[in-house]
Amino acid sequence: MNTSILFLSFIILSLLLSLLIFLSSYKIKTWMNYYKCYEFKNKKEVINFYAKGECVDLVDQHDESYFKDILKLISQTLQPNSKLLDLGCGSGNLSYLLSYSYNVIGLDLNPFPKDSKLKLSERLQYIRGDALNLPFKENSFDGIIMHSVIEHIQDVERVLLNVSKVLKVNGIVVIVSPCLITPAIPLTALFRLLRGRKGIPVWGESLKMCIINIFRFTLFLCHKIVLYCMGKTDFRYRLPDLRKAREIGGDADAVYWANPFDIIIFLCNQNFDVIDKKTSILQGLKGGTKIIAKKGDLYTKVRNKK
Ligand SMILES: C[S@@+](CC[C@H](N)C(=O)[O-])C[C@H]1O[C@@H](n2cnc3c(N)ncnc32)[C@H](O)[C@@H]1O
Repeated sequence: MNTSILFLSFIILSLLLSLLIFLSSYKIKTWMNYYKCYEFKNKKEVINFYAKGECVDLVDQHDESYFKDILKLISQTLQPNSKLLDLGCGSGNLSYLLSYSYNVIGLDLNPFPKDSKLKLSERLQYIRGDALNLPFKENSFDGIIMHSVIEHIQDVERVLLNVSKVLKVNGIVVIVSPCLITPAIPLTALFRLLRGRKGIPVWGESLKMCIINIFRFTLFLCHKIVLYCMGKTDFRYRLPDLRKAREIGGDADAVYWANPFDIIIFLCNQNFDVIDKKTSILQGLKGGTKIIAKKGDLYTKVRNKK
């Protein structure tokens, strides 16, 4: 039997289990505690962490082959010479590749790396700034790219509202991130451990942790799917493991339990048309969320409804 069938049967079994829990009037709050959910408090520590460039060092190796998929996605979606914002651009490697065809501004909490090989020009600018307080006028960009960033944002709703503000009508937002709430990650960790390899920090470093997390994330995922069907968002944040980020890489330093469900519903509620979504709960850390959405014209929509 292949792994997807196994995985699907597992999901169905877990759905039945969650239903049983509900039916036995299990208190929802206790059920929710299967996964940690934090009201994010220590914002400053996280801002400082990212501004110190821990993350940028890790992403500096990202090259053209790493960005192949997103470059293809953008070239199919946005006209050449459009004005783009690469939000949370890190070392600026993606911004640089985009600047061959577009006018790009890269923005990050970090200053532009002094030893960078990238040449800034009229087509490639770099601004040190915070996605929570974007320093641009309304309707400034034809496209906004968020590549591997949303999982590091402490107030995703606020950032998406900012994105909507600085994007032109009919402008495009492209969001690529992992899906961090899938049991596929602890399941992968379990297979790795069984083959004598290292597990995955946060999701499964030991066999016990993998098994607990497979259940925990199945419930988390089911909860998200139910809310998605109801058209509701529920952004959940986690205490990032800042200590381990440099040592282990990966997404131990993520602050938001990134998933496609919240983002799609939120964008739709903000008058965006989701024109393409490639989501895979099987992919987990390796992608899992790819969303392209177009900012709608509220006035036209209201007029058309009449
Ligand atoms: C994993 S890196 C991704 C970098 C780049 N987009 C890439 O794909 O190579 C995440 C980046 O988001 C930045 N970041 C985190 N919070 C931010 C914020 N509030 N405003 C701007 N940038 C932020 C970090 O500094 C870091 O450079």
